[in-house]
Amino acid sequence: MKIYITKNYDDLSKKAANIMASQIIMKPNCVLGFATGASPVGLYKQLIKYYESGDLDFAEVSTVNLDEYKGLSSDDPNSYHQFMQTNLFSHINVDPKNVFLPDGLAKNSDEECERYNKVISSLGGVDLQLLGIGTNSHIGFNEPSDSFAKETNCIELSQSTIIANSKYFDNDSMPKYAYTMGIKSIMQAKKILLVANGKGKAKALKDSLTGPITPSVPASILQLHSDLTVVADEDAFSLMR
Ligand code: F6R
Repeated sequence: MKIYITKNYDDLSKKAANIMASQIIMKPNCVLGFATGASPVGLYKQLIKYYESGDLDFAEVSTVNLDEYKGLSSDDPNSYHQFMQTNLFSHINVDPKNVFLPDGLAKNSDEECERYNKVISSLGGVDLQLLGIGTNSHIGFNEPSDSFAKETNCIELSQSTIIANSKYFDNDSMPKYAYTMGIKSIMQAKKILLVANGKGKAKALKDSLTGPITPSVPASILQLHSDLTVVADEDAFSLMR
């Protein structure tokens, strides 16, 4: 495990973007696993800058996202499809036919999970998977549980995730279910890059990186990955000093 501690969110975003950029430079047709949420937004801004200055080319890159809300269409402003369009895809030259996310409107959840697993394996797996971490240590939407989920699954969101994410939704309109790549799918990525910023993530990060490996702390499984890089700001790292 490599850990980089940065002064602030800006430095974290640049460091993480450089790690991702080096992956694209080393393997222009790589498969990147993307995350949504607040944590990677600065990283995405930096990747856009590299693209605009001619330093990065996404023409051959394929992307798979970790998760999507069940019940939201790909053009719903709160869908993760739209999040990725707004924060990254519409600003770079990634080919839309190389972009993959779970379909929130799929009629049959089991079939959709199966379809998404096949997408990932047909691409040859993920070269570099970006992760944020929830305050309850979730990764993707793999919530604390009694067992580690395997591949793509449709889960009921925990109360703490609903509280954390409902700020993006009007009234009570936040979906209660989501599709997520499973723990096994995440662990099969060749490299993992975890970003965490702010005091609110300090306990989750400490429990995940230094505590026992248990499905009640989903990110703790990352301790077993052979190529994990963590980029955290000083606040997120504060309980490990
Ligand atoms: C989002 C995702 C989630 C987030 C996590 C942290 O695609 O998979 O696991 O990474 O909820 O969210 P933020 O970054 O908003 O604190």
